[in-house]
Amino acid sequence: MAIDLETPWVEKYRPKDFEEIVSQNIAINNLKKFVSKKFDMPHMIFAGPAGTGKTSCALIIANKLLRGEKYYRNVMELNASDTVRMKFVREKLKDFVSQNMILTENELKMVILDEADNIPKTVQQTLRRIIESAPNNVKFILMCNYINEIIDPIISRCAVFRFVNLPKEKIIERLKLILKKENITIPKAKEKEFFEALYFISAGDLRKAINALQMAVALELLEDLDINELLKISGFVEQSLLDQLKRSIEEKNFKTARELLYSIDFLDSRNFIRQLMKVVPDLGNQKNFYYFQLLKCFGKVDFRISQGADERIQLTALLAELINP
Ligand SMILES: Nc1ncnc2c1ncn2[C@@H]1O[C@H](COP(=O)(O)OP(=O)(O)OP(=O)(O)O)[C@@H](O)[C@H]1O
Ligand SMILES: [Mg+2]
Repeated sequence: MAIDLETPWVEKYRPKDFEEIVSQNIAINNLKKFVSKKFDMPHMIFAGPAGTGKTSCALIIANKLLRGEKYYRNVMELNASDTVRMKFVREKLKDFVSQNMILTENELKMVILDEADNIPKTVQQTLRRIIESAPNNVKFILMCNYINEIIDPIISRCAVFRFVNLPKEKIIERLKLILKKENITIPKAKEKEFFEALYFISAGDLRKAINALQMAVALELLEDLDINELLKISGFVEQSLLDQLKRSIEEKNFKTARELLYSIDFLDSRNFIRQLMKVVPDLGNQKNFYYFQLLKCFGKVDFRISQGADERIQLTALLAELINP
């Protein structure tokens, strides 16, 4: 059987049932109970990092409760970008929620709202009133990465389920399952290193891990498995460059360190920070005190970049700090 590279594996292996959702046990157990109550199910918020199963869970629930054509009639899926316009939210959502045709008044209706944390606060207020006045057969599922971006009156009307980053074993387990189903084998000698690298790339985001895996297969990196290539295509710098950088930091050679930084073609600064952070503990002669100081710097620089600060300037400052703490 030829390897299937046409369909994205993240979709092909999207869990179809709760049993397939990896990890997230607490959330899932509670979810199952709520879903069995149907009309008495509360509105819900799924909060947590990317690629941990939120959308998958929402789709599972909707499919369980509304099968076949009912699904198309009674489920409304929206994204934050649809809802930026207040008018849209008012009209579309209100229509959907309040229009109880003879056909649907005894049927459950669901509104699945993705990226709810990106909805402007004023629109959230409108949304809150719609949720408040929704009849009992209409249930909302809101999804977000950052729950603190959702206004309190909405939170207090919903049951909140927290999704967490997946642990290493669970990610690797899922990747192995996919490989098995695709009939692909990894050279035994490199297996451990390969999965470790995929996990590092994913940082607990299963979508990222699966995408990196499919990319490795598509680019035929498995033959004589080159972990550096894998890192590179996933937006990380190769180990040899990190080693050189480490040496220049130890030798307190700022000029070389900066040149190395500027030699990186496609710099993903936050990925780079994660890689650099792994180097710190084995820098020679670092006293504990400096180690903690440095970790604080990593935190600050990462935050500033997330807020839009100039990446090269921030990373250069970080190198300076590493060299001269
Ligand atoms: N807990 C999980 N169990 C099994 N597969 C998962 C899990 N989390 C993510 N996946 C895989 O990753 C893909 C993306 O997951 P999903 O869309 O549910 O993530 P999400 O939490 O909604 O992320 P985002 O915040 O980016 O929207 C799924 O199609 C599935 O293949
Ligand atoms: Mg999602």
